[in-house]
Amino acid sequence: MKFFLDTAKLSEIKEAADLGLVDGVTTNPSLMAKEHIEDYPAHYVAICRAQPGDVSAEVIATDYDGIMREALQLARLHPQIVVKVPMIKDGLKAIRALSDEGIKTNCTLIFSAAQAMLAAKAGATYVSPFIGRLDDHAHDGMALIRQIRTIFDNYLIETQILAASIRHTLHVTQCMEAGADVATLPYSVVMGLLKHPLTDVGLAKFLADHTAATKK
Ligand code: G3P
Repeated sequence: MKFFLDTAKLSEIKEAADLGLVDGVTTNPSLMAKEHIEDYPAHYVAICRAQPGDVSAEVIATDYDGIMREALQLARLHPQIVVKVPMIKDGLKAIRALSDEGIKTNCTLIFSAAQAMLAAKAGATYVSPFIGRLDDHAHDGMALIRQIRTIFDNYLIETQILAASIRHTLHVTQCMEAGADVATLPYSVVMGLLKHPLTDVGLAKFLADHTAATKK
């Protein structure tokens, strides 16, 4: 499973990339706003240069012509840009047109297997089911990942399942079991994956034993 970083914060992207843990990045309008970005195009290019993988950049328009105009501007910025388009009627139409032009897309705000299938049929490169937001509403987000995996495998669909709205480390291991192609993780979750209290306890004991044995 590929690990994408779900952030617009360059320092986090660079730090995780130095560890070799970034296969791509996803952003959205909320994450961009959080970083108080003024020059969006320059920031997207900086993210592309900071790590080796695809970078999802989301359109703001919700009408077909507006989505296409923004999408083409975004796609021209850098070869690693993937245009992120919401799961709405005009969005689907735009995904079809962009796919026909060889532009990669990520269909976002997916909350059902039917939506994922429509995006795949339109030619989306990625679909982004939002696990945490389903869990927030007492629906099993991980069940949706499993369901989409089964359906895509049944029909040999190549669209990648990009599990999004991941809130904790258990979501990540469950995504791996469920066969998600990609999980996009907040930086805190990536760091959480590194840690286990028994690792810290074990290392402290090794070092203490070594110190005791060599001290004379
Ligand atoms: O990739 C989508 C993700 O950023 C949404 O996460 O935690 O706002 O539901 P969250």
